Amino acid sequence: MAEKAIDDLMLENRKFPPSAAFKKTSLVTGTELYDEGNEDYQSFWARQASELVTWDKDWDTVCEWNLPYAKWFLGGQLNVSYNCLDRHVLAGRGDKVAFYWEGEPGESRVITYQQLLDEVSKFANSLKSLGVEKGDRVNIYLPMIPEAAVAMLACARIGAAHSVVFGGFSSQSLSDRINDAEAKVLITADGGYRRGEVFPLKPQADEAIATTPSIEKVVVVRRGNNPVDMKAGRDHWYHDLIDAASSDCPAEPMDSEQLLFLLYTSGTTGKPKGIMHTTGGYLTQVAFTHKYVFDLNPDKDIYWCTADVGWVTGHSYIVYGPLANGATSVMYEGVPNYPANDRFWSIIEKYKVSIFYTAPTAIRTFMKWGDQEPAKHDLSSLRLLGSVGEPINPEAWMWYHEHIGRGNCPIVDTWWQTETGGIMISPLPGATTLKPGSATFALPGIGMEVVDDECHHVEKGGGYLTLTQPWPAMLRGIWKDPERYQDAYWSRFEGRYFAGDGCKLDDDGYIWLLGRVDDVMNVSGHRISTTEVESALVSHPAVAEAAVVGANDATTGQAIMAYVILRTGFDVTESDLRNHVAKEIGAIAKPKAIFFTPDLPKTRSGKIMRRLLRDVAEGRNLGDTTTLADANVVSELQRRAAETPSED
Ligand code: WT7
Repeated sequence: MAEKAIDDLMLENRKFPPSAAFKKTSLVTGTELYDEGNEDYQSFWARQASELVTWDKDWDTVCEWNLPYAKWFLGGQLNVSYNCLDRHVLAGRGDKVAFYWEGEPGESRVITYQQLLDEVSKFANSLKSLGVEKGDRVNIYLPMIPEAAVAMLACARIGAAHSVVFGGFSSQSLSDRINDAEAKVLITADGGYRRGEVFPLKPQADEAIATTPSIEKVVVVRRGNNPVDMKAGRDHWYHDLIDAASSDCPAEPMDSEQLLFLLYTSGTTGKPKGIMHTTGGYLTQVAFTHKYVFDLNPDKDIYWCTADVGWVTGHSYIVYGPLANGATSVMYEGVPNYPANDRFWSIIEKYKVSIFYTAPTAIRTFMKWGDQEPAKHDLSSLRLLGSVGEPINPEAWMWYHEHIGRGNCPIVDTWWQTETGGIMISPLPGATTLKPGSATFALPGIGMEVVDDECHHVEKGGGYLTLTQPWPAMLRGIWKDPERYQDAYWSRFEGRYFAGDGCKLDDDGYIWLLGRVDDVMNVSGHRISTTEVESALVSHPAVAEAAVVGANDATTGQAIMAYVILRTGFDVTESDLRNHVAKEIGAIAKPKAIFFTPDLPKTRSGKIMRRLLRDVAEGRNLGDTTTLADANVVSELQRRAAETPSED
């Protein structure tokens, strides 16, 4: 995969400097922020923290760095929900719109900062009445409705850490995450809308909490109006709680290092990692990046990030960054093709969106649906486009630029991770000359270096992406697993953070991300580990052995391909197993194709040769197979791969 990407990139030398018109209103047009960040990154971030965040108490120490643990703004106190809500209302901006929410069936809700503050305060009081205290964990399993943001901010207001689980995850995944976090309360909904239908959440949640002893109370938001069972004493309707609650709930100052949230993400083993993020540093970096990467003018811009709050992009760039900056955002509940393939473009036209942030997978899907879809709408309100989640190939970049940006919107390709908390590598749109497909440079205040296998500096060409100094929004660890924290991120290269991504530096020092170098797949911008899917497959009684690889896919970046050895005497279909994986993990982890095989290619020491399986899945000629225990296995697999139609 890396080889092909490099070939493509070699051909890419188009350049797009910021236009004079864009520069005229842009926040940053020169190198001043970079210079300041290079001079002294800690003073740089300290200035951002004091300008962008309101503190109840000043910090004593900007950064305490005990590799691999960083603490930022020690001694400082602040409240994240105060920063996202109260201070804007107190400054007279209570009537300003925080969210234009668009439901999939077509209804809309307009929520001002004052209304959001009232609702968050009421819900914070409700959580208190359910026994939630500072330091507790609260799980959130909701569709894309404003109550998701309310629930997160209410937790932040009282110092409880939230752990949001994407609504597409199965009850098993939910239960694993609740148990790992030992959450006290679960906030869910009856159901949500997707592709014109209601998908049930409460029944899934009920199944999950049958095996989660820590959950004491469940709060249910009414959205789908689908029938649900409510257990007396344990389950409460959200609206009943809100109706009974006072809107007076002063924001309590929290220590800068107070746990703000856990967010689970896949690693190279089967068990998801609970990534820990704290308060002061996280808010500083998400506010900074949201302001400068998106060149935000909070009085004029209408900003729309199409992510789901279940992923880190939703945390940092739907909830915390935009609200800290007092921005007006669009929040959309559903899929891009309901009722038709032009839904996103009709939303942009309806709300006059000026900043639009989405994922390459979505862009490639729009390309497939055709130029006529965006052409049906007036997209002239757009002035800036963003991309996140996976490498954006130059063709998709150009299509985005021409058909959505109509040739005059810069595109910010933003590289970051659940672990980094905020954007790390990205253009500053008024200052950086863009190259289609390159995330360009590390942001001011960020220390990034490309190194080779032996950790030597790479000036030009391929290598591994590493981070050389602490950054404010960096993860503070893996929940209950300090050893894994050290192993996963800090052991591959001494003294530095290894992100797991391969990349390449071109002649001008531009960075080109080339995808993961570990056993983590990136499917539609979502991280899924091969081991997780293998475990799910093997948990089916008919499966003896399974190997999973990510194969290149023109739309989703990578697609999950599974090779399965069945136990004798069992008869299952490909779709039985795909559904089984959906039940174990969630529909996002369903393999695109499953190949049944009597054997898997293994080395003589018994290790599955994933590289070969990837070659087979991608239809490539095979290189050296001499280390194989049984070379016939592969030719048999190739024959089967050519025969098996893959499901979409
Ligand atoms: C992995 C992190 C960042 C929020 C969404 C994904 C890949 C992310 C880019 C980009 C190339 C990217 C990396 C990274 N990735 N953004 N602009 N260009 N690759 O968060 O689930 O934590 O995944 O996504 O491989 O390691 P995540």
